[in-house]
Amino acid sequence: MILIIVADNDRQPVVTPVSGTRRHNLYETRTTTHTMTPLQSIKGFKDILPGESELWQSIEEQAKTVFAAFGFREIRLPMLEKTELFARSIGEATDIVEKEMYTFQDRGGDLLTMRPEATAGIVRAYLQHKLYAQEPVHKFFTIGPMFRRERPQKGRYRQFSQINAEIFGVASPYADAQLILVLVHLMNGLGVTDAKPHINSLGCPACRPAFRTALQDFLADAGDQLCSDCLRRRETNPLRVLDCKVPGCKEATQNAPALSDYLCAECRTHFATVRQALDDRGVAYTIDDRLVRGLDYYIRTTFEIQTGALGAQNAIAGGGRYDGLARALGGPDIPATGFAIGLDRLAEIVGSIRRPDLPRPTLYIAALGEDARPMAFQCLSQLNLSGITAEMAYEDKSLKSQMKRANKLGAAHVLIIGEQEMQQGKATLRDMATKEQVTIPTDDLAAHLIERFHNTGG
Ligand code: HAM
Repeated sequence: MILIIVADNDRQPVVTPVSGTRRHNLYETRTTTHTMTPLQSIKGFKDILPGESELWQSIEEQAKTVFAAFGFREIRLPMLEKTELFARSIGEATDIVEKEMYTFQDRGGDLLTMRPEATAGIVRAYLQHKLYAQEPVHKFFTIGPMFRRERPQKGRYRQFSQINAEIFGVASPYADAQLILVLVHLMNGLGVTDAKPHINSLGCPACRPAFRTALQDFLADAGDQLCSDCLRRRETNPLRVLDCKVPGCKEATQNAPALSDYLCAECRTHFATVRQALDDRGVAYTIDDRLVRGLDYYIRTTFEIQTGALGAQNAIAGGGRYDGLARALGGPDIPATGFAIGLDRLAEIVGSIRRPDLPRPTLYIAALGEDARPMAFQCLSQLNLSGITAEMAYEDKSLKSQMKRANKLGAAHVLIIGEQEMQQGKATLRDMATKEQVTIPTDDLAAHLIERFHNTGG
């Protein structure tokens, strides 16, 4: 289909299909003399503006520092994958695959999906490049946007970012404990003190089927108390009924069988070791028998970091073990475990605790008159090129307005270059905090300033 965009007076442009042969112009815009409202972003897709982006950067930097200490290395992945990858890993009967993926057929006819999460792509890359043949253990991290067409609300977006960490090749419960420790350490470092790990064991292919059957039998009697989604889930994915937030479903499952009663000996030992390792490290956690998670690949340990700070969207991170996934995607039987932090949610919480220092220039150059501007620009360029943050007035402005601007930017110093002083080989450097002014020679002005600021640390 071809679309034509028509500006509807001062309102949003109206997009109408163009049929027939006018294929040379995919988007045609008919404007009127009225001004249009600027285009808005897509619902659930938000911009991270300067001011907030510094906060995101500081969280990402802190996460990278922690990852380096724990031995995780970065992996960067495509945002588009074959739809089949997500259907086979996350599970056909999950909310994500059933109704939230951005899926489309590209011009070659391939069915592609904007990644709704990163784990499937990391496993795909790990298998594709046979990384298991190089090293028995791999620890990866990746940071980037994910896409899910959920109902947007505070803490829930259609494009959101995650910080992922995954450990491949370790079946030991200590890897699960280590991931929870990484999360707690990172949260503490960021000052998020009310975030607590909730942990559970989902059993394994040996013991979970018995629980699934017992739960399905129980739910068969719950009948009309369940919401329409859960009536469907009862058949396709009964474990998900346990964490449905609808009050009727919560009530109906109050006396449902408990997963912990069905765990096999191996799963019990595995979970006990995770708990012991956390106890030994003094990490507080809550055992949450209903923590079933929204993705099908998990076995044994699952966990979430929950907080009361974001209302209904209380999980700032989630993860768990997914030993069968590599094999299910056609690779060898490699155990794996990991987590993802919701960066948007984390930034909202961290932003309510502290604001990062915003960048401010070391120097603002005020040039008085056109003849002073070349010298000002030369000076500015040399400072910038040597790594010193400096700004100048690009246009002709009064000294008063340039000083006002320097103040607004929070410049530590202002260099005033006037035509008259320049002729005398001088310029004035003003310390904005102490108001002290010194006269400095304009001979080799930039070199002089670079030396001065490097020596004083700006
Ligand atoms: P998940 O629980 O679907 O797990 O997502 C992890 C985190 O991403 C959530 O706890 C939440 O903070 C954030 N998140 C999810 N959806 C949204 C949204 N629509 N808007 C804002 N934030 C959101 C996974 O994605 C698994 N791949 C985690 C994992 C990694 N398991 C093993 N390794």
